[in-house]
Amino acid sequence: MFTHQTKLKEIINDNPHMVELFNDLGIDYCCGGGDSLGKVAKEKNLDLHRFIALLENKHESVKKIGSAKADSIAEFKQYSMEEMIDSLQMTHHHDERKLLKEIDDLLNKILLVHYQSHSEKLLPLHKLFGTLKTELEAHFAKEEKLLFPLMLENPNASPEVIAQVKVLEREHDVAGDVIKEMQNLTDNFTPPEDSCYTYQKTYQLLNTLVQDIFMHVYKENSILIPLFEKQANR
Ligand SMILES: [Fe+2]
Ligand SMILES: [Fe+2]
Repeated sequence: MFTHQTKLKEIINDNPHMVELFNDLGIDYCCGGGDSLGKVAKEKNLDLHRFIALLENKHESVKKIGSAKADSIAEFKQYSMEEMIDSLQMTHHHDERKLLKEIDDLLNKILLVHYQSHSEKLLPLHKLFGTLKTELEAHFAKEEKLLFPLMLENPNASPEVIAQVKVLEREHDVAGDVIKEMQNLTDNFTPPEDSCYTYQKTYQLLNTLVQDIFMHVYKENSILIPLFEKQANR
C-alpha cells in the first residue's frame, strides 16, 4: 500500500518492475529516489490519488507476469562487487557511449534542418545535451580509471576512500538535473507534430538514453555503493 510519504527508491527496492511505469511517466527514480510520491505528484502535476492508484494497479499486474528490467535488477543484486563493476561497464557504459555519439550526430542534423521552425527548443536542447555528454564521459572515465579500481583494491576501505566513492552520487545528481531540464523542455521527449523521421528518432534515442541512465544510476547508488560501504564496515 503506497502513501504520499512512500519514497520512490523504497518502491523500486521492493518491486523492481515498477521502473517501467516510472520510465513511462518520465520520473527519475535514481537521483530523485529519495523523493516521496507526494512530492513527485506535485512536481509532475499529477493528481496524487490517481497517481497512487496507477502505481498500485501496475504493481499488481506486473507482479504476475514479471519484466525484463526487474529481472535485470534482481540478477544484478546477486553479483559480487567485481561482477557488478564488470557488468556496469559492459552494459551501461558501453551502450550509453554509443547512444551519446549517435544522438550527437542526429541532434546536429536536426538543428540545421529545423533551425527556422524549432530553434527555440533545439538550441537549448543542443546545449543541455552537450553538457550531459561532457559530464557523463568524464564521469565514466573517473569510474573506470579511478574509483572502480579503488573499490576493488580496498574492500576494507577507510572513511577517506568511502568519501571519495560517495562523490559519484553527487555527480549522478548533476546528470539527473540536466535530464530533468531536457524532459521539461521537450515535454518528456514528445516530438512536434510536424517533425520528420530524424527528429522523432533523435527524441526516441534521447528517451532510451535517459532510461538507461536511470537504471545505471540506480544500480550504482542503491546497490553497488551500499554493498561497498557494508563490506568496508565489516
Ligand atoms: Fe557508471
Ligand atoms: Fe556513475
